Amino acid sequence: MKHFNRSYVGAAALCALAGGAAVQAAELSQETLRNLNTAMHGEAYAAFKYRAYAEVARKRGNEALARLFEESANVEANEHFAREADASGLVSFDARNLGEAMAGEYQENTKMYVGFADAAQKAGDKKVAAMFRQIAADEGDHFQKFKEALVNLKNPPNANISEEQRHESEHR
Ligand SMILES: [Fe+2]
Ligand SMILES: [Fe+2]
Repeated sequence: MKHFNRSYVGAAALCALAGGAAVQAAELSQETLRNLNTAMHGEAYAAFKYRAYAEVARKRGNEALARLFEESANVEANEHFAREADASGLVSFDARNLGEAMAGEYQENTKMYVGFADAAQKAGDKKVAAMFRQIAADEGDHFQKFKEALVNLKNPPNANISEEQRHESEHR
């Protein structure tokens, strides 16, 4: 399994350079931001789940049910998730988005999936343990690609900030 412990210092520096955590709407309370985060996880999960349900319904010849699941999935993703993402300031400029993406992939690569694999192995769920280890390696690849993309950004990190964002960050 590929881990990136040795590049941790570099990764941390790059994340810091890129802004690290998502830009959050400064005027919202911590509780509201936490709730938005929880809600987005639920909406994203529901969207993918409904797409999978739609596939099963379509394979079984129930096109109407497949469409119902797909339409619902689209609302969860394109309306509910999108509106909550907008309210929470989840999406920012390229460098910051890359920093945020790297932080997530790094955590999954080096901690979350490693812990999950160990626990599954201990519980005797060997296939799931192996799957977690494979996914952990994929996350390591994602991290590495995002890191390279950040280094290779044609414009320096601050060049993509809009005038409004620049004004905002100067007054934070
Ligand atoms: Fe929803
Ligand atoms: Fe990933």
